[in-house]
Amino acid sequence: MNTRASASSSSSPSDRRLSALARHLSSPSDAGSRGGGLSRSLASSSSLAGRESVFSHVTRAPEDPILGVTVAFNKDPSPVKLNLGVGAYRTEEGKPLVLNVVRQAEQQLINDRARVKEYLPIVGLAEFNKLSAKLIFGADSPAILENRVTTVQCLSGTGSLRVGGEFLARHYHQHTIYIPKPTWGNHLKVFTLAGLSVKYYRYYDPATRGLDFQGLLEDLGSAQLGAVVLLHACAHNPTGVDPTLQQWEQIRQLIRSRRLLPFFDSAYQGFASGSLDADAQSIRSFVADGGECLVAQSYAKNMGLYGERVGALSIVCRTADVASRVESQLKLVIRPMYSNPPIHGASIVAAILRDREMYNEWTIELKAMADRIISMRHQLFDALRARGTPGDWSHIIKQIGMFTFTGLNSQQVAFMTKEYHIYMTSDGRISMAGLSSKTVPHLADAIHAAVTRVV
Ligand SMILES: Cc1ncc(COP(=O)(O)O)c(C=O)c1O
Repeated sequence: MNTRASASSSSSPSDRRLSALARHLSSPSDAGSRGGGLSRSLASSSSLAGRESVFSHVTRAPEDPILGVTVAFNKDPSPVKLNLGVGAYRTEEGKPLVLNVVRQAEQQLINDRARVKEYLPIVGLAEFNKLSAKLIFGADSPAILENRVTTVQCLSGTGSLRVGGEFLARHYHQHTIYIPKPTWGNHLKVFTLAGLSVKYYRYYDPATRGLDFQGLLEDLGSAQLGAVVLLHACAHNPTGVDPTLQQWEQIRQLIRSRRLLPFFDSAYQGFASGSLDADAQSIRSFVADGGECLVAQSYAKNMGLYGERVGALSIVCRTADVASRVESQLKLVIRPMYSNPPIHGASIVAAILRDREMYNEWTIELKAMADRIISMRHQLFDALRARGTPGDWSHIIKQIGMFTFTGLNSQQVAFMTKEYHIYMTSDGRISMAGLSSKTVPHLADAIHAAVTRVV
């Protein structure tokens, strides 16, 4: 009998574990084999470190065409640089703006010790949804009074478009969506990834720098029966060109007669004209006829809540029963996507919309932003006229909303960036909200040089 066997047979289990441990630690052969195992595994992990990444085939994606402008702007050390690419409001001093009424609402939220940070329901804050529907459709909208509208809080305008797109891909018989040419660069990607097939309808006429109304009517007139049509509710991005009320009426009749399904993108309510009601007119005319539509709402620009990601998707249905079934399916779209939306931004919006005084203050601040943008249009137009810049620049004052589609080509844009440190998207779109009285002369000089020196 060897000593090891007798030791193990005569001792308690804990003694045996201790002596086994001692053997491992003292035995040269055991230690050698363990050490060998360890060094082998270290060797194999170090050879892993030398191996190529499993992602080494991943190619570098291009910068987003809009957000990439800011990336380039940030790298430019020039003191005169000017960013007119991003669609965010700036003050006369070129600073981002937090509205007073938003600060006030946030203070209220902070002071309320009863507030907690629990999850919202899948469809978001109920009061926010109710007030958002009223804001866009009007407080006396029959569709709201008849409970035919379902509204769900989403991640700003983009998230609302995406949720709406995925709902349509799952539950609507037609998977084709027509979007204007040109349109906000993200529409194509959002709807394609949502599972819809994207086609374009004519919208902008470069010759007049205005609406190609005939082209629009022809393309929607020959669109597949029942197709979805994306419409910018106001302040079309990037062109700043909106249909007149009479043209909207013709568009509405055509859409209804061809049983097309309107999907409104409302990213600028109040920002175009300074009036929340006027900028919702296109949508309200479609709701007034009793037909169905979708609306994606964003509070990024009109409340300056960009990074809070506050928005809503409303679907106007024929009956209350359909609306409630639609909502039940929207939940199934949202739940696996982001579970439920964030609480803070929606609480700010609800605080402002529910309180008459705060609401009034908001409309005043909103009008001031819209007016400043309109005043920038006039100042730029006057500055170009004063310089005798060749061309008709009246589109600068005719177009509406945050952007002017200047008509400058990509070479002229590149020239302005290189020589004048002015940044904008290569299609010649400039954000009027990024301009101030101080920077108008610099921009006018740059445009003058570009159109006289670069063809
Ligand atoms: C036409 C249009 N739709 C939607 C959006 C989405 O904005 P957000 O997701 O920030 O609300 C924008 C933003 O620039 C826009 O211009």
